[in-house]
Parts: sequence; structure tokens; C-alpha cells
Amino acid sequence: MERARWIDEAAERVRAAGTGAPRVCVILGTGLGGFARELLDAVAVPYAAIPHFPRSTALSHAGRLVCGRLGAVPVIAMEGRVHLYEGYEPAEICFPLEVCARLGARTLVVTNASGGLNPRLASEEVLVVSGHIDLMGRRAREAAMAADTSLATRSPTGCYDRQLIELALSVARREGFPASEGTYVGMSGPNYETRAEYRFLRRIGGDVVGMSTIPEVRTARRLGLRCLALSVVTNVASTDVQVTTTPEDVVAAANRASMRIGSILRAAIADG
Ligand code: HPA
Repeated sequence: MERARWIDEAAERVRAAGTGAPRVCVILGTGLGGFARELLDAVAVPYAAIPHFPRSTALSHAGRLVCGRLGAVPVIAMEGRVHLYEGYEPAEICFPLEVCARLGARTLVVTNASGGLNPRLASEEVLVVSGHIDLMGRRAREAAMAADTSLATRSPTGCYDRQLIELALSVARREGFPASEGTYVGMSGPNYETRAEYRFLRRIGGDVVGMSTIPEVRTARRLGLRCLALSVVTNVASTDVQVTTTPEDVVAAANRASMRIGSILRAAIADG
């Protein structure tokens, strides 16, 4: 049970920074880190200062925990996450979230950037995740990690909270921007997909494709947190013409959609 002790040690370090007990944990994905600036009375702790924490190396992932309040609700925001494509295992990817849960978080809101597979989705639209297809290929490692901290090893089903999905969609309707619910396909990366892969992923029922979120959401469910996952379509997955998408394009499109994500985050946090 060494891992359980690591989680305690990391939580203790964050607590020692004077962060208080968070109620909602927010994972800010590619190009969406700016939201942390909205938190009041914020205390930021770099991942490098927390024992056993992974270091994020991906573009636009600052690598710090920011704890503060939004209205009356105490929030802990992860500015940046780590991914399988950086060489990390599920145990490392999920570690920060487990620390946030240990500190007291009861709700998880995850954001990410994705490629739009459903032809009805345009760039900068928000897809509220209601289901996923896991093609990341690390479920056995994740189950081993769960066993290590006495959590259920079986994959939880029904991961995405219906009430939070409806709340997210109602915010979009109220504010007049497009958002729909659908299925997120998780790939391990590091590359964006080929046209043939995009075609395949659409055929099997994916609405968007990305390289994160599923391990964290499953772990949060094992820990009993309510989960909401918001995906920003940063590029339309073209199956006809060869389109080159760069990580910089993805960050720029996510930045442009950050007001939309911010509106939903504020409502979900108030509900959390
Ligand atoms: N594929 C996988 N991950 C992504 C994409 C994509 O097209 N866009 C942003 N993240």
C-alpha cells in the first residue's frame, strides 16, 4: 500500500500550502488553463513542489495546482495534466486527481481538446461527454493501480453524471452557443490520427477523439466523485482531404472556445 501513503504525503504537502478542503476538482486541458485565474484567494502549488507528482511536459500545460474559491465553493484546479503519450502510466496520470479526492473533492469536471469526428460538429464547439470508447489500451494497468489503493478493479459504468450533462447543455442554450452530448473516443497518441483512423472511429460511434480524460474519469468514479467531461472540438477530423493539424492549432482553437467552457465551469462548480 505504498501508493496510498504517497497520496497522503502529496495531500499533506498541498494542505500545508494553506489550500483548505476543495469541493470541486477541475482538470484544465490543452489551451484551457486560463480558467484558474478566476479563482479568488488562490494559492498555487507547482507540481514540482509536491512529492510523487508527475511533471507535465505537453504544450500549454503549466503544471500547477491552483486552489481557491469560485463564489462560495472551494475549488482545486489542475492547470495541466499528464498523458500516456508523454510516457506516463495510468497510475501517474490519475495520481493528482486521487490527491484532490483525498483533500475532499466530491465532483470532478474534466476539460479537453479533441478532434471532431461527427460531421455535424464544427471547430470550437463543445461536446458534453455522455459516454466513451476506450482505445487507449491501458485498462489492465489502471486496474492494477486501483487494486493498489483498495479500489474496485472492475471498470465503472455510467461514468458521466446526467444532471451535470443537462446543466452544461442548458448553459449553452441560455448563452446561445452550440453544444451537444456525445461519445468521446480515447486514443493513446502521440500523433493525431490518420484519415483512415478518423473514418474508423466515426464508424464505431465516436463523436470526438482525444488522448486523455478516460483514466481520470474512471478513477474518479471508483472514488465516488460525480463527473462531468467537456470536450472542445479544436479540429474537424477530415476523412476526405489531407489536413495537417499541429499542437499549436489545437491550443489556439481551445483558447478561442475558453469563454464557452468557462460559462459551463462556473455553473457546474456552483452546482458541485
Ligand atoms: N486527435 C486526437 N487528439 C486530439 C485531436 C485529434 O484530432 N485534436 C485535439 N486532440
